[in-house]
Amino acid sequence: MGIEKTLSIIKPDATKRNITGKINSKLEDSGLEIIGQKRILLTKQRAEEFYFVHRERPFYNSLVNYMISGPVVVQVLMGENAVTQNREIMGATDPKEAKVGTIRKEFAKSIEENSVHGSDSLENAKKEIEFFFTNEEIIEN
Ligand code: CMP
Repeated sequence: MGIEKTLSIIKPDATKRNITGKINSKLEDSGLEIIGQKRILLTKQRAEEFYFVHRERPFYNSLVNYMISGPVVVQVLMGENAVTQNREIMGATDPKEAKVGTIRKEFAKSIEENSVHGSDSLENAKKEIEFFFTNEEIIEN
């Protein structure tokens, strides 16, 4: 526990629907602070690298193509227990299973087009933040 940082991605289904702000409100209302943020286009190579752990999964190619289908907003979130807190406010991967009030329940279109990504552990959060951000792009106060 304690103050942690985690990586969040607002995915193409959400940026295309112009709901970045609505998602940010959910994150901020849950107590998380957005201390780094940028809107980018992933290349196929970068998307493949980011989701390398899923390379053997049947949804991998489709996932990579979806993640390069439009802009994404990559974010560093900070707060008490931020990794778990972000996963709670995101809700289950499959929006059909996500709890009321979560981002995915409210906004996700399907298990693939599920609007947001969040790091699943503190160790992965560190790696994923370094994948997208330099130290200068993260402003804590
Ligand atoms: P994310 O939390 O970013 O991690 C892997 C992503 O793969 C997931 O969100 C979804 O966007 C996508 N995905 C597509 N199909 C599945 C599936 N059956 N199970 C898990 N993730 C899936």
